[in-house]
Order: sequence, then structure tokens, then C-alpha cells
Amino acid sequence: MAPLDPHSCADASQPFATHVSLTLYLDFATSTILGSALLTLPSPHTGPLTLDTRSLSNLSALDPLSGSPLPFSLSPSNPDRILGQALTVSLSSHSSLLLTFSTTPASSALQWLSPAQTSSRSHPFVFTQCQSIHARSIFPCQDTPAARIRFSAKLNLPRPLSAVMAAAHLACRDPAPGDAGPACPDTLWCAQGRVVEEFAMNQPIPPYLFAFAAGDIGFRDVGPRTRVYAEGGTAVLDAAAREFAGTEEMIRVGEALFGPYEWERFDLLVLPPSFPYGGMENPRMVFLTPTVIKGDASGAQVVAHELAHSWTGNLITNKTNEDFWLNEGFTTYAERRIVEVVQGEERAALNSGIGWRGLNEEMERFKDNMEFTKLKPKLAGIDPDAVYSQVPYEKGFQFLLRIERQIGRPAFDEFLKKYISTFKFQSIDTETFLEFLKANVPGIENQIDLKLWVEGTGIPPDAMEPVSTIYTKIVLLAKDFNAGRMPREDEVADWHGQEWELYLENLPKAVEASQVAALDARYRLAESRDWEVKVAFLQLAISSGCKEYFGEVEKTLKQVGRMKYLRPLYTALVQGTGRDEEKMLAKRIYTEARDCYHPIAQGVVESILSKHS
Ligand code: BES
Ligand code: ZN
Repeated sequence: MAPLDPHSCADASQPFATHVSLTLYLDFATSTILGSALLTLPSPHTGPLTLDTRSLSNLSALDPLSGSPLPFSLSPSNPDRILGQALTVSLSSHSSLLLTFSTTPASSALQWLSPAQTSSRSHPFVFTQCQSIHARSIFPCQDTPAARIRFSAKLNLPRPLSAVMAAAHLACRDPAPGDAGPACPDTLWCAQGRVVEEFAMNQPIPPYLFAFAAGDIGFRDVGPRTRVYAEGGTAVLDAAAREFAGTEEMIRVGEALFGPYEWERFDLLVLPPSFPYGGMENPRMVFLTPTVIKGDASGAQVVAHELAHSWTGNLITNKTNEDFWLNEGFTTYAERRIVEVVQGEERAALNSGIGWRGLNEEMERFKDNMEFTKLKPKLAGIDPDAVYSQVPYEKGFQFLLRIERQIGRPAFDEFLKKYISTFKFQSIDTETFLEFLKANVPGIENQIDLKLWVEGTGIPPDAMEPVSTIYTKIVLLAKDFNAGRMPREDEVADWHGQEWELYLENLPKAVEASQVAALDARYRLAESRDWEVKVAFLQLAISSGCKEYFGEVEKTLKQVGRMKYLRPLYTALVQGTGRDEEKMLAKRIYTEARDCYHPIAQGVVESILSKHS
């Protein structure tokens, strides 16, 4: 056994599958998928082939040509909570193998929404979220980003639903007998009212980028290569189309900075509010939370981020989750470069400022666990979702900015372009990046302490708090608040959500309850339409003991499932001693809201609640 990734059972001495052909029958009544996966290997293989699985049932392995069963085993018999179970199939000179399986309601990559949980309220909905290690809960695979696979897929669903996938759409047709092979009986596959949608992803992608959604999905074109898809009817689509009107401009800016856009389409899918992230960079089709639609074009920042992943993350992929900063640090840097061009330097600096604040807060969160403040942490035995933080984003951003400061922007831009064209469609580790850096920027290791940046804990002394007029003004105003001075109307007249967010996040963790009430009386922050502002304010209100906001907190926690909001609000409620009322409130809200949260979000909230019970 030669492990290559602490989060995968895939064996480095075995070949990686190069193509997966999926046949998936979506059963909304039982929240399960009956499926098969035909895996193609680069050449005939004899011996064991080990795949990751988690929360799958009815597993079997077949010889695709003869249809006869292949011997396989599942281990350990007691599934590992994080890794799941390794499925090992014995092959003899096979260059492909066929697996059948069904997902279970515990399959963490899938969220099934009842009609009542959607905006349209009339049709069910299902969507995937595979990063970081959830693909294995949909189909058996070598679930490591070190692997790169091409996909094709047939999805069978009930009319009038439609499916979208992070892949090219090939056909929408009636089911035909025999189509499904051993995945599902023809009686189900060809039952009345079923339809088949076919897709192909012809570029090799890591398994965590596999993605689809199905439901009552409509769309609007917003650019030559961009279409916005959403569930929930024309109101959501109209608002989304307005919010994302500038997407094509951003793609062009991205191309000018980082090289050609290699994925042909850049579509956007706006998900129901339970989507656990702000955005997910699924190739050809980014998945987005509806909370980014604020009516003021600020959702563009999240789109800029997911777009930037088209180069850093999807073209060049982290080899394991220990190298996650290669995805998120580079993307945060690239996102801010795009924002700088389309929204100006001040706005980009403001984003960096919010990031700087976030990075400093993570140092506090991990003060007893400094390993997770490293750019390249050791993650064996650790659930990546449990330690998800701003560190890979913002420390990674700072590291790249440090290099940029050293060599100057023109040289750094050239370096970035060369980095991308050299490693595109590859999965690389941090060491490979460092070698490339040293080879292309001779002497850099004598100017920057690369070891300290990559292996050290905390924030290196040569990291830099951003400098900009608005940023500095806001941080000073936040300091004034301590001395009892609230910002005047004229000082905040041109503030948008991000200014307020930065302001609130720079206030002390807890202040006088009367000050919180006074601030809200003047600026109505608890009712802000901007979720970032609302959540930052409610967090302050909870920590400052302002119980009059508990109603609004409850409402918020029941409206969204984005973990960026759940995490601080639940944490503020349960953290600290002698907060029995808040703890009980948190538990009650969670019990009532749990069904609306994505399985990944459920796991995160449960770990917050159990840590402070
Ligand atoms: N790839 C991430 C989301 C992610 C990370 C999902 C780890 C699962 C595991 C995505 O690109 C991201 O960073 N989203 C941010 C957007 C923000 C930085 C603009 C988010 O969801 O908040
Ligand atoms: Zn990202």
C-alpha cells in the first residue's frame, strides 16, 4: 500500500482511472440515486484496484465485457467517519470495470430538498457539493485531487424537472430500454414521465469538481458564454441576471491576466438558500448561494473568486488537501487582481482588509492548535471540513503578495502566466510550486524565508496589513467606537456592505449592550439586506448580551444554510461560560432548522454545539 493522499485510500502503485461513465437514476421519493460507474484505466491492469466509498449501499463490481462479477472487498468493516470504506476490486488484465451502487440519505455530497424547501415550493430539488472529500458518497472513485478524470453521465429524472451539470449538455431524450445496464431495472428507468439528460466533461478534472443539480431550473443568457440558471422562477432569474451582468468583462480581465479561459462556457447556477458555501468553482458552471444577490453588484466579488479558480484550482489543482492553499491562496490573489481592474484599487484593498481581519481572527481560533495556522498543515486523521478556515486563503494571498512585492508586479505577472501554462491540467504539491519559484526567480530563497512562510505557524513578520484610504479610515472609526464615538452620517454616507462589514469586524468582540442598540437605532444593521453586514452585526449583538436580537438571529439561522453565517452565529451563541439561555436557544434553533441545512453544514454546526455543551 502506497498512500498518496491522507484523505484517500487510492494507492500510488495502482493506475488512476482516466474516464468515468455514470448512469444515475434519481429517486426523489427516497432521496437516493441508483447508479453505475464504468471506470476506464489507462492500460490493462492486473491486481487490486482500490477506490474510495462512503455511505454507499448495494455495491457490486462487474466485468464490463462479460457482465460477470469481479471479486471485491470493503474495508474496514466499520467505516471510518472521515474516509469511509475502501472498495478493493481484483482485476486481471482489465482496462475497465463496472461498479453498481446506490447512494443513501447519508451521502454527504447530496442535498435533497422537498418542494416546501425550495423557492418555487412546487418541485423537489437536488444538488451536489463534492469538495473536499464528498464525491465518494455519490460513486466509488479515487477521491483524491491527485487524480484527473474525464466524465460522461446519463441522468434519469422525472419530468418536468431538468438537470444541469458542470459539463457540456449533450442531449435531453426519452429513456430507452437497456440504457441503464445494471444500474437500474428498465421498469424504473423507462417508467412513464421519466426523461434522460446526457452530459460530457471532456477535460480531465479532479473528482471534487464533479457536480450536478436537478429541479425546476430556468435560465437567462447574460453574456456570450454565460447563462444564469436558477430554481424559483423569474424573480430570482431577473435579479441574478442583473447582478451578474458584468461577468463577461471579468472573464476578459481574467484572460488578460492569467491566459486563455480553457473551459468554453462560464455558466452560473444560483442554488436554494441552503447551499453551504458562497460559491463553488465547478468547471463550466459555478454554483452560488442566493445570498450573493443583493441588488448592488457586490456578488461580483464571489463570481470573480470562482472565475479565478478556472485558472488556479481547476487548471492547476492542489495534489492533496494539505496543499489547499495552492487553490485558495492563488485564487484569492487572482480574485483581487480581477476586482482591482473592474472595481478599482480601493475596493480590492477593502477586500484585502476584510481578509487581513479574518486571518488575524483565525490565529485566535487556532491558538491551541497552531498546526492549522500553517500554509501546509498535516491533515492525516483530520476532516477537511472541520478545519476549513481563512488561513489557506489569506496566508496564501499574503505569501504571493510578499513575492510580488519582492520582484515587482510586472515580473510577478509574467511568473504567474508561466506557472499556469506550465502546470495546467496537472495536480501539484507545494514543493513543486517552490521548486518552480526558485528556478524562475533565482535567489528568491535568500530574500524571502520560504520555509517560514510554508512550514511556520502564525502570521510571518513580513506579511502586510493593507494600506488604503478607506481601509485605514474605517479601522480608525472602529477604534473610535471603543471611546464611545459612533460614526456620523456624513462619514458613512457612501458606505456599501463591505465597508460596514469591515467596520463591524474591527469592533471588539463584545461591547456595551447600549452601544449596540444605539448603533442599530441609527443605521438599522440588523435588518440589512446584506447578509455579511447583518450577520456581523448579530454576532456582535449576541456577544454583547443583547437579547432583543435573538428573534432576528433565529430568523436568520432558519433562512440560510451558508456556513459562513451559521458558524459565527452558532459560535457566538454557545461560546463562553454561563450562557445557558443562549446554549438552549442554539440547540432549539438547530433542532428546528436542521432539516433545511446541507449535510456538510449539519456536521459543522453539530461540532460547534458539542464543543461547548
Ligand atoms: N472552493 C471554495 C469552496 C469550498 C472550499 C468548498 C472547501 C468546499 C471545501 C470556493 O471557491 C470558495 O472559496 N468560496 C468562498 C467564496 C469567497 C472566498 C468569495 C465562500 O464560499 O465563501
Ligand atoms: Zn475558492
